[in-house]
Amino acid sequence: MLSWDQTPTLASMRCSRAWVEIDLEALTHNIRALKALLSPATDLMSVVKADAYGHGAVTVARTVLRAGATWLGVATVPEGVELREAGIEAPILVMGAVNDPTEVRAIAHWHLHPTLVSPKQALVFSETLATYTAHSSETDFLQALPVHLNFDTGMSRLGVRWSQAVEFARFVKQLPHLDTVSVYSHFATADSPDPTTMHLQHQRFDSAIAALRQADLLPNRLHLANSAATLTDSSLHYDMVRVGLATYGLYPAPHLSQKVALKPVLSVKARITHLKELAAGDGVSYGHRFIAKKNMRIAIVAIGYADGVPRLLSNKLKVAIAGQLVPQLGAVTMDQLMLDVSALASVQEGDIVTLLGQVGSQHLSADQWAEITSTISWEILCGFKHRLPRVLRSEATAASCSEQESSPRL
Ligand SMILES: Cc1ncc(COP(=O)(O)O)c(C=O)c1O
Repeated sequence: MLSWDQTPTLASMRCSRAWVEIDLEALTHNIRALKALLSPATDLMSVVKADAYGHGAVTVARTVLRAGATWLGVATVPEGVELREAGIEAPILVMGAVNDPTEVRAIAHWHLHPTLVSPKQALVFSETLATYTAHSSETDFLQALPVHLNFDTGMSRLGVRWSQAVEFARFVKQLPHLDTVSVYSHFATADSPDPTTMHLQHQRFDSAIAALRQADLLPNRLHLANSAATLTDSSLHYDMVRVGLATYGLYPAPHLSQKVALKPVLSVKARITHLKELAAGDGVSYGHRFIAKKNMRIAIVAIGYADGVPRLLSNKLKVAIAGQLVPQLGAVTMDQLMLDVSALASVQEGDIVTLLGQVGSQHLSADQWAEITSTISWEILCGFKHRLPRVLRSEATAASCSEQESSPRL
């Protein structure tokens, strides 16, 4: 609790309503466990795009680098700049396609590593760097910007078709200011129990590599694997793996959970702000999608779909209060949702509700939410909005965000 002479800042209200709790010990554990799957010569890139899948990019980046990751992956130039502005010096690969000369300048200025996906884009880079060099006092990174060539082996997203690898690499090689330091591709179906397409993409990648080697155009670094491929087979690891989801302690698919014991990093918590009695026949929330069959006690919790709890979970969500599971009732609203707490005699306003996270021996998981809402856990994690402060588990007790600490009684 804040003393009366302290200013009620945003930080002091972090756990007043709803928040995401981040467990950096779990994150460190995951990186070490993943590293143990790799040969010592294989680098681990942690993919920290989309604010580290909702976990907070800067904190995650610092932690994974301390734990043994050596590269970071982002989707956009601003994501890379955010990490650089925070003082992070590790190599950062921008995996999205960049065509805007201002972003090319930012890449060079902040020493980010761009992905090149087409000859046209390579030209934009080379020409922009030529002009920039003429007007800038910046030195080596501009002379030979390290670039990473992306080959499309079957994802049909970014990259030059694998069969045109040599032409593309040769074209980039003769352009000034560009130095090809890696080639890579991305799997479309590595999380499927049916490996047919993954094998086809793997073969295509290998055939591109063989052709590049023959043409003397092969860079030192080759990479292909996302989390699923990293967990599948070491023949997919090459010189680096690009691990997103597994960094955060989730498995891309149930059949990939045997190789390594990962720990989920993120929990979601919110407070009960109001308790009330319902009479039989009362309807709950918009559309009255729940009607009380008997008298009951409900809790109103300060979190909703504007925070990242999908509305599709309405009437299907289970959450925990003091270790006990309770059902959610009616439509999830923008900022609030309702729970049936009839079975919990001692529940009070101010109590903490766990929506995702460890509850006793079981884990309320983003995988369950994804299954109910017919999406993937990646989307659930990225869905938690900035309205939810990110609180480190190690700080949770001190910041009055944990259940051990008595919650503010309203
Ligand atoms: C090019 C690329 N590599 C690696 C990853 C990491 O994927 P995952 O989260 O499945 O490990 C992504 C994420 O979508 C990606 O776009």
